[in-house]
Amino acid sequence: MAPTPLIAGNWKMNGLLKELGELQTLAEAAGAGLNQGRDILICPPATMLSASFGILGNHVAVGGQDCHSAESGAHTGDISAAMLKDVGARYVIVGHSERRADHGESDELVRAKAEAAMAAGLIAVICIGETEAERDADATIDVLARQLASSLPDDMDGNRVVVAYEPVWAIGTGKTPTADDVRHIHDFIRRTLVERFGDAGNGVRILYGGSVKPGNAAELLAIDNVDGALVGGASLKASDFIAICQASP
Ligand code: G3H
Repeated sequence: MAPTPLIAGNWKMNGLLKELGELQTLAEAAGAGLNQGRDILICPPATMLSASFGILGNHVAVGGQDCHSAESGAHTGDISAAMLKDVGARYVIVGHSERRADHGESDELVRAKAEAAMAAGLIAVICIGETEAERDADATIDVLARQLASSLPDDMDGNRVVVAYEPVWAIGTGKTPTADDVRHIHDFIRRTLVERFGDAGNGVRILYGGSVKPGNAAELLAIDNVDGALVGGASLKASDFIAICQASP
């Protein structure tokens, strides 16, 4: 049986409390049935997590955009998985390419963060994806194989781990891979998960991320082994994000 689709919005470093009205609109749509047959997730900035949870309640899940690999301690400015859980988060994104690039996060650190998230009872959304230079060098599959081998915990459970494929060159650019490329890559990710984790690999949701918009969501979300989307810019406006949710099968 195919996993329940997950449509996730990553607000990145965007959003002030005055923008909470967008979440109110989303909560009302979810309460009216938008969340039937699909899971919906919003990952606002940490400063908005508590208020977002208050608005979205049980209709739409809330998640963090990152967590530290340690349970607690002297890590100024960082947030632990337990802290996210404490304010109502159910998910956390780890290994986003912007974290890998801006903060030099390695595959091994991403894996440690995913393990910390799972230990705290969160679902880890583990991001992988090739850069434009890697794609141009025909290294996409090699890069994804390395990231999958090193960023994923051994303790795999489809209820606690989501993989998000985000080609770095497609993020925020308006460019997307062809449907054939997405199909080929998601099929590779699925086969890799099953080879390593057996049947548990079939239960892991594989999201596509990178310039998902209302206009291309239906085509992307209909592709085999695309079990949802990780949406950046288009998740900031409730009407666009709702349209993307409605496009999921
Ligand atoms: O986390 C979301 C992704 O980086 C995609 O961002 O939809 O703005 O391209 P985007």
